[in-house]
Amino acid sequence: MTTSYQPSRPVARPNDPSVPVGSSRAETDAGLVLGGGRLVVDELEKHYELDGGEVPVVKGVTFTIEPGMFYSLLGPSGCGKTTTLRCVAGLETSNGGRITLNGRVLSTATQHVSPDKRDVGMVFQNYAIWPHMSVFANAVFPLQVASGRLPKKEARKRAMEALELVRLDGFADRPATALSGGQQQRLALARALAHRPRLLLLDEPLSNLDAKLRDTMRNELRSLQQRLGITALYVTHDQSEALSMSDRVAVMNQGRIVQEATPRELYFQPADRFVADFVGRVNMIPAVVRGRDANGEALVEAYGARLVTPCPTDARTGDDVTVTFRPESVRWHEVAPDRPNVLPARVVRVEFLGEIVEYEAEISSAGSAVGRIVARGAPMNAPATGSAIHIELAPSACRVLTA
Ligand SMILES: Nc1ncnc2c1ncn2[C@@H]1O[C@H](COP(=O)(O)OP(=O)(O)O)[C@@H](O)[C@H]1O
Ligand SMILES: [Mg+2]
Repeated sequence: MTTSYQPSRPVARPNDPSVPVGSSRAETDAGLVLGGGRLVVDELEKHYELDGGEVPVVKGVTFTIEPGMFYSLLGPSGCGKTTTLRCVAGLETSNGGRITLNGRVLSTATQHVSPDKRDVGMVFQNYAIWPHMSVFANAVFPLQVASGRLPKKEARKRAMEALELVRLDGFADRPATALSGGQQQRLALARALAHRPRLLLLDEPLSNLDAKLRDTMRNELRSLQQRLGITALYVTHDQSEALSMSDRVAVMNQGRIVQEATPRELYFQPADRFVADFVGRVNMIPAVVRGRDANGEALVEAYGARLVTPCPTDARTGDDVTVTFRPESVRWHEVAPDRPNVLPARVVRVEFLGEIVEYEAEISSAGSAVGRIVARGAPMNAPATGSAIHIELAPSACRVLTA
């Protein structure tokens, strides 16, 4: 058997001047919109059998992804992201709950549609390409063995179209192993898209790539997803990946979704300490509510000082709370400005990180140290180690979390 591929039409290579405008590439580009399905996951439960007992790993996970949306599950290793994704793909049988795509039931506690009949494409961390096949054969093979298998010509057309999408059409005849890591991952993506699925599932697809390539692939993946209008469910433990690519992000912890929001909401309005801490760096300082000002902002006592901060309405005077703020929202001054939320401090550590400088400041009250905060700022304007400064926590940068 030969895996060599004879294109049925000229293969359009990127930037090839011999390919006239309006040729096969442009035609394909015009017909690119795959459209996206609406995924509803409702009260999903999954247990694994371990040491003779049942261990719940997905505990009532519920979310909806609107058509064309890029949605991420973000959480630490072991929190149940992959298991959730595999249940949606049909690679795991769920123990409860309901999954539907465009209203069609994919699984319930008693029903299970097999993966190849779900209209989903999946990309894994480890590419999972077939090393003994050519690039083209990798893309076309799943279409030829799938249950509702396509006529040969149609399968070839779709495989080539998918390779064009990820700009690998010029590499069709190469052995798959002759591709770089980034190209292999694009091939895995092409293979998932060749089915023209309604939903694309991606499990840490960029984790094996080096940092620079990862950034490029983030942009490529996101723009391809938007161009195709396909719905995407993305799994990652990397908060910057989730924040930069997603329309919405669900943060998972121990088998549950703890907050679902837009990237900005998650970052600036974390629902609890876990989310605040997991999604970026954060300062958390213990405080006591002392009352409210005329604007309804809370007055809290922290580190021996009075701070003004927005605060949930259920927090009452006398309650113990946590004030949170991001390192980059801290400002420092040599002379204390006449504004609220300015605390005297001494710089105990300064670390140069290239585009930013991180410093640690010890807060003092009545002459003794009461706690430390971490701040980040422009390297041109960093305080010196050992210097006495005043740090400012603008009220709008603070957020109070109740117990
Ligand atoms: N096949 C399996 N059998 C038993 N336990 C499993 C199996 N797969 C995953 N687990 C356990 O389920 C939990 C969630 O795993 P997983 O969904 O892979 O987490 P994540 O993708 O968030 O890192 C982990 O504690 C893991 O050890
Ligand atoms: Mg995983």
